[in-house]
Amino acid sequence: MTLPGPEPTGREAVVRVAAVGDIHLGEDCAGLLRPAFEALPDCADLLLLAGDLTRHGSVAEAEVVAGEIAGLGVPVVAVLGNHDHHADTPDEVTRVLRDAGAHVLEGESAVLPVAGHKVGVAGAKGFCGGFLGRSAGEFGEPEMKAFVRTARRGAERLARALGELAEHGCAVRIALTHFSPVPDTLAGEPLEIYPFLGSYLLAEAIDAHGADLAVHGHAHLGTEHGMTAGGVRVRNVAQPVIDHAFALYRLPLDGHPTRPHAPTARYGTR
Ligand SMILES: [Fe+2]
Ligand SMILES: [Fe+2]
Repeated sequence: MTLPGPEPTGREAVVRVAAVGDIHLGEDCAGLLRPAFEALPDCADLLLLAGDLTRHGSVAEAEVVAGEIAGLGVPVVAVLGNHDHHADTPDEVTRVLRDAGAHVLEGESAVLPVAGHKVGVAGAKGFCGGFLGRSAGEFGEPEMKAFVRTARRGAERLARALGELAEHGCAVRIALTHFSPVPDTLAGEPLEIYPFLGSYLLAEAIDAHGADLAVHGHAHLGTEHGMTAGGVRVRNVAQPVIDHAFALYRLPLDGHPTRPHAPTARYGTR
């Protein structure tokens, strides 16, 4: 395990955001991430979990995830991923994670106090459907319309949550999804499956409401860094991409969301 370096003397006006997705914990994984996560209070103000926390979405697997995140000493904010839906019990998975103290968001927001500022996270799983000019349309068979409608409703839920944050006057706003809002962070994935990895509708929601950072997972073979058309930085934190227990981003709390972010630091086990 790589340990975090010392904090600079005198607290900078930044929020330190740890993030990881696609940890895909099975019933045999208890304790795997706990040692790295227990270092979080020394280096981060919150932990974002970008979905696919389990392998098959069973309650037993969710209980393993709960054991990794309970009582960490930093707030944990999560969205579910498609794997967390596979057992058709997402409400049960959500309940187990909430019982462990996590904010589990689906069209909702969480506002966290950090160094006297409000840090807002708007979360929704999102869905696939593709990217501008190469996306599925809400046309034709009922099955196709239902598919695209699912993507549209996922983006609407994210938009609603981001809208809530605007009302709270947050110093930093973060959009948290499982599916990707942009194709940039899919680089490395086969082009043929891009339509199953994200939706441009999520980026439209992010750009419409504004955010300082957008975090997602799902694209295991993708790339960490991307950006929406509106200039919001996007980070794919799928664990196979970041190759560590979590990535760490430092966002300014000084009201200048366009200021370039400091380079990403990564901590934890490989
Ligand atoms: Fe995944
Ligand atoms: Fe996924």
